[in-house]
Amino acid sequence: MAVEVYLSEEKIKTRIKELGAQITKEYAGEEIHIVCVLNGAFMFMADLVREIKLPVILDFISASSYGDETVSSGELKIKMDLASDVAGKHVLLVEDIVDTGLTMKVLRKNIEERGAKSVKLASFLFKPARLEHETHIDYLGFEIEDHFVIGYGLDFAGRYRELPYIGIYSPDQD
Ligand code: IMP
Repeated sequence: MAVEVYLSEEKIKTRIKELGAQITKEYAGEEIHIVCVLNGAFMFMADLVREIKLPVILDFISASSYGDETVSSGELKIKMDLASDVAGKHVLLVEDIVDTGLTMKVLRKNIEERGAKSVKLASFLFKPARLEHETHIDYLGFEIEDHFVIGYGLDFAGRYRELPYIGIYSPDQD
């Protein structure tokens, strides 16, 4: 069964250009320490950094509150930590989606405690219907309805990350 396209490649590209321009303007004269939240944000980060016309340092962290289910376990685990020291840096967390907000709440606090000069969040998607933990998103790609979405880095049980668009997951696909 074909995946229903929710956000097309074209729409995504246009929005990321806008976000890149906004970030470039707001961080003018600074170097940005980009922290990509693996695995889901890899594609968003790769496209976003090419639209940021400033020096960037890229680092990666793996933190998740999800297993192979479409419902949050409510617990955050840092599975792979940053390779660099972020003390004194302007950190921009790059996330695929803010769902309950738990991941970003815990991660932002963690990065702040490491002594970052500033911590901001760029999230590709935001599902307000499921928010449980207040989360400030500085740079948002798209606000979406309460669907479980796949593609453009987002998975269901490790699959569909490679799709170049955002689709709505339907169990019939498996
Ligand atoms: P939160 O901690 O509940 O905000 O969850 C954030 C994480 O849950 C994201 O980084 C995703 O990995 C995962 N997630 C939440 N909603 C979806 C979805 O619709 N599709 C795929 N992954 C999702």
